[in-house]
Amino acid sequence: MDQKLFKVTIDNITIDVEPGTTILQAARKIGGDVAPPAMCYYTKLKGSGGKCRTCLVEVAAGSAADPRPMPKLVASCRTNVMDGMVVKNITSDRVIDARNGVVEFLLINHPLDCPVCDQAGECDLQDLSYNHGEEGTRYEFKRRTFKKHDLGPYIQLHMTRCILCYRCVFTADQVTNKRVHGVLDRGDHSEIATYIEKSLDNDFIGNVIDVCPVGALTDKTFRFKNRVWFTKPVDAHCNCDKCSGKVRLWMRGDEVLRVTARKDEWGEVEDWICNTCRFERKNASDWTIEGPTKVDRHSVISQGHYVDGVKPKETLPDVMGGRQPKLLMDIHDISDVNTVELSALPGPATSKTFEKKDQ
Ligand code: SF4
Ligand code: FES
Repeated sequence: MDQKLFKVTIDNITIDVEPGTTILQAARKIGGDVAPPAMCYYTKLKGSGGKCRTCLVEVAAGSAADPRPMPKLVASCRTNVMDGMVVKNITSDRVIDARNGVVEFLLINHPLDCPVCDQAGECDLQDLSYNHGEEGTRYEFKRRTFKKHDLGPYIQLHMTRCILCYRCVFTADQVTNKRVHGVLDRGDHSEIATYIEKSLDNDFIGNVIDVCPVGALTDKTFRFKNRVWFTKPVDAHCNCDKCSGKVRLWMRGDEVLRVTARKDEWGEVEDWICNTCRFERKNASDWTIEGPTKVDRHSVISQGHYVDGVKPKETLPDVMGGRQPKLLMDIHDISDVNTVELSALPGPATSKTFEKKDQ
């Protein structure tokens, strides 16, 4: 017998989803801006979510049977849809206001050292700050500092950047065969650490680098080697006896600078990869290269290779009942810069690209 689907409306767009679906997953089915940001939830990690509050949404009607609104904003990653539920995300001023507040809290102790951080360019907190951050901080106290912990030869911990999302703890618990790190202490003393100085060196532990939404856990073999927007990501595979062997290589010329798992459009790992693939197979000859990775055109990573840029799904006209957003000015009509066809360039644009021929 067919299961009855639930109808849910998010930001004026209605879809049918299976009972048990969370609001966040339903919104991701619609896609584009309608999907709330998520800093701690991770589809592949059981028990994740409910910690960071960036995914808050307003439930304007609880269900068809009880259409009363929910009094408080709810975490969409932990709230299941009901039949006839009406949800507001980007159409709610309350949500935007709350999200701005959450970002301000997340940044209270964050060092904002993006210029020297390896995660810059692919950091969820950086993206979130661009969209919801304030220009300055109201915080007057000293930011937290921590005693340095050495996690071994592969993984670098910068505790000051951590937002305590717990993803790395769940990953170590659920993906590796032994977890040796966790969150120690309480309140603002909480930190990611091993109880007795210990290396994280278990076969699949490198995946904590990929799930970390900020630059708190980074790859020591890639550290300070390059900025991610100067590298070219390609999808590649090898015959590995420990994992699927399906990876993303971050290359500069023929040099493999970094190996990571492949991520989907929500920035989540598709297949966990082993430490050997991640840290030890650093020659192009170790891999069968499938081709350039499709990169979101809005991402800074697409800077150097426009050809394979993927246009993100545009949901705004649907959210606004078919109306096109009104632009204050159309940069394409005004700026000469856009007379250059960027996708036809073989590499990154430079000032030379925009020099006028007749000057
Ligand atoms: S180190 Fe990264 S993944 Fe681990 S809790 Fe902190 S922010 Fe989350
Ligand atoms: S993603 Fe929902 S609370 Fe963090």
